[in-house]
Amino acid sequence: MEKLAIITGVGGQDGAYLSKNLLEKGYKVIGLSRRSSVNNLSRLEILGILDEVEIISADLQEHLLIQQLIEQNQPDEFYNLAAQSYVVDSFSNPFYTSKVNAFAVLNILESIKIFSQKTRFYQASTSEMFGLVSETPQNEETRFHPRSPYGFSKLYAHHATINYRESYDLFACSGILFNHESPLRGGNFVTKKIVKGLVNYKNDQERILKLGNLEAQRDWGFAGDYVEAMRLMLSLEAPEDFVISSGRMKSVREFCEIVAQLLKIDLVWEGSGMKEQGIDSRSNKACIKIDETNFRPADVDLLLGDSSKATEILGWSPTVDLEGLAQLMVDYELQNFQD
Ligand code: NAP
Ligand code: GDD
Repeated sequence: MEKLAIITGVGGQDGAYLSKNLLEKGYKVIGLSRRSSVNNLSRLEILGILDEVEIISADLQEHLLIQQLIEQNQPDEFYNLAAQSYVVDSFSNPFYTSKVNAFAVLNILESIKIFSQKTRFYQASTSEMFGLVSETPQNEETRFHPRSPYGFSKLYAHHATINYRESYDLFACSGILFNHESPLRGGNFVTKKIVKGLVNYKNDQERILKLGNLEAQRDWGFAGDYVEAMRLMLSLEAPEDFVISSGRMKSVREFCEIVAQLLKIDLVWEGSGMKEQGIDSRSNKACIKIDETNFRPADVDLLLGDSSKATEILGWSPTVDLEGLAQLMVDYELQNFQD
């Protein structure tokens, strides 16, 4: 029989890729999306699936509405992907971030416990919970030390998910996903910002990309691969949490270099600290500058995941490497470049 999945944050990067994945597997998908004055479902349009997803207008903070949707639909699976997901904004909006990323998750768990115990629940946990890392690489056993309101709000939801699994025998699990990107990545996140910024520079040499901490290192993968891991987690006999990562780590500086090479910009670095610049050595013009507004009160210096548990139990491993991911993102940006 056709399975019913509810996805919150359906218009986000992962919501769109997960919808496509589940539709291809024969699921009926109900997507929750909050009202917006701009089109926040454009990713579903780009993937050509907007007509196939039943969209319901709902903010995650509408606790009663979320309860009703769970009670009325009795979904087989519930993927909670909605979040205030931008770490920078969590410093300026810590209460809002906690309401959406923490308390709204508690409401979903309570609703499943009371109204729909058969529903399998997926929580979008994050490598940001590791924060100031205690060991490298990080796995399911690594100690948490979040470095932002985003990180600690997600840690609350992570522990709530474990607690409801242990207390009420719910099929509730978390994917601890490391950074994953795609052509559909939001423009604030550093990979998309770099790709867009250098494509802009390539088209108009007056447009300079402004970045913050070039030394931060991340384990970047492709979102299309990571949503498959979410589905696999809910198909297990028993719920468990998994780290999902590529197992490779590069710095923001190295990601700039990869993208510059794809765009045939001969990038060299000059200067140091706040005065450092990325120079296009053919024109001798600066294409990258450092801007202090892009630094955070506390940053996560490095993240590198060990997803061997996912490989062993889910049979999951990534299909796109960082160079392939950068190529996908650059190709998309060049095709869709607008002044
Ligand atoms: P995203 O592109 O920022 O999407 C987030 C979605 O949540 C958007 O559709 C957004 O709606 C929605 N949303 C935000 N606040 C909401 C609210 N109050 N009520 C209802 N919907 C709301 O994020 P993503 O990259 O797809 O990530 C999906 C999930 O995985 C998030 O929970 C994120 O924290 C987590 N995660 C992401 C990564 C990653 O590297 N991408 C890694 C680990 C964990 P609008 O479109 O209207 O803003
Ligand atoms: N956004 C941004 N903009 N980041 C910059 C910039 C800049 O101009 N310059 C340097 N960085 C550095 C940040 O300081 C950070 O260390 C790193 O680039 C990555 O930043 P983001 O791409 O914004 O991602 P994130 O790691 O903070 O958070 C993303 O990944 C998490 C998983 O680890 C988000 O998708 C989170 O929602 C997700 O949970």
